[in-house]
Amino acid sequence: MSQARTLNQNQLSTTTIMQDSRKARATNFLETIRFLTNPMKFLEIAQNSNGDIFTIKIPPGFDPTVFLTHPQAVEEVFATDQRNFDASVSTYILQPLIGDKSILMMDGVSHRRQRKLLMPPFHGARMVTYGQIIHDITNQVIREWSPGKAFSIRPYSQEITLRVILKVVFGLKDGERYEQLRQLMTSLFDFFESKLGTGLLFLPFLQRDLGPMSPWGRFLRLKKQIDDLLFAEIRERRTQPLGEDILSLMMSAHDEQGQPMTDVELRDELITLMFGGNETSANTLAWALYLIHYHSEVRQKLLEEVNTLDPDAAPSTIAQLPYLNAIVCETLRLYPVILFSFLRKLKSPLEVMGYRFEPGTIIAPCNYLTQRRPDIYPEPKRFKPERFLERKFSPYEYYPFGGGNRRCIGSAFAMFEIKIVLATILSQAQLTLADNRPVRPIQRGITISPSEIRMMLTGWY
Ligand code: HEM
Repeated sequence: MSQARTLNQNQLSTTTIMQDSRKARATNFLETIRFLTNPMKFLEIAQNSNGDIFTIKIPPGFDPTVFLTHPQAVEEVFATDQRNFDASVSTYILQPLIGDKSILMMDGVSHRRQRKLLMPPFHGARMVTYGQIIHDITNQVIREWSPGKAFSIRPYSQEITLRVILKVVFGLKDGERYEQLRQLMTSLFDFFESKLGTGLLFLPFLQRDLGPMSPWGRFLRLKKQIDDLLFAEIRERRTQPLGEDILSLMMSAHDEQGQPMTDVELRDELITLMFGGNETSANTLAWALYLIHYHSEVRQKLLEEVNTLDPDAAPSTIAQLPYLNAIVCETLRLYPVILFSFLRKLKSPLEVMGYRFEPGTIIAPCNYLTQRRPDIYPEPKRFKPERFLERKFSPYEYYPFGGGNRRCIGSAFAMFEIKIVLATILSQAQLTLADNRPVRPIQRGITISPSEIRMMLTGWY
């Protein structure tokens, strides 16, 4: 018989659970502000005062959420039957953006069906086809840099990842529709990355269409323009031979009943992939470029490795470079762009490290805190790519892409893309940090991004 201690989610708490509803509202509001202003600090304080498993209240629902940071606890969650979890407790806030038919809005059988339809295009072997496009786009974008002129790196990393998604995922060719979508998507990202946009996402009662000049009205009109262009593209592509891009592969996929994806499903998944894959990869790229150039010995070692490559090396060879891989892994360890996996609500009881959680409890494996544990990563705050050459970490010690049945479907694609972009930049552009301003992690929309990083081109190789 299990000796587990039965808990409800309030019992592992860092917060005072208020009985008085006015005080509770004030606590919720203050915690939301603290959490949104500096989520990393908020989580670190909670762990320091409470240990490996603790409860905090966070938006959007303000329900107490049990955070897990110990690898054993994470394993017990990721390795358990995933049908025990409902993951829509946090993803529903994205509905106005990604629609009802997005994989993020689904659970159970429909989620499994959608994952089966979406996974094959992101399979490792497919990546090879995308390598040349990623290399060419990086070249196009970095040619806008002029020697001696300081610039902010984040808009460029986002421009690269945006163009990559439009070409590789949406399969768009150069032309008017590509240009229009590029500009509209940039406006949409700017909106959701602003404090106003983030606030509107987390506070649904503010989502009111008060005309084209109101913030929500502006968003709805922007979204409509994007939808019209995407539906036009889908309609046109249904009449053409399928290509190698991810939209073509999604269009040719069928579920177990032989059903293909509908136009609305395709539209919602395209927007989901854009939002799942753009900011995340752009932030990681910006962090990696900063860390490589801040640590001159890392840059030197990486340059030596990249220089061993044949000038016509295949993208798959570049992606296998061990030190390059270690740099990207270490970047995602130290500065993961998503701090914890999607919140999961228990449908039946679950035992984690001797605690028994009741149905309805919300849990969140927290990769940010696990990946900074000194017992797994000595000197956890140091950027040390070598640790990934010296040791293999388990999927419960290192999980920047989450785990279980919700594990990021774009992880292989993101790793591949980031490595090709870094190798392309490092082998062509001599970059340096333009100033000594400290760079820190900040909340940007639903991801964590570096604050402004200014760099300068000193010459071309
Ligand atoms: C550095 C880049 C990226 C990071 C750090 C990242 C991280 C994550 C994380 C933490 C999750 C939640 C996993 C969980 O709850 O267990 C997730 C889910 C997801 N990601 Fe990514 N991601 C990245 C890039 C991408 C890319 C490039 C795409 C596609 C183009 C993508 C598409 C998705 C989708 C569709 C899901 C939802 C999966 C599901 O609900 O079944 N991501 N990602």
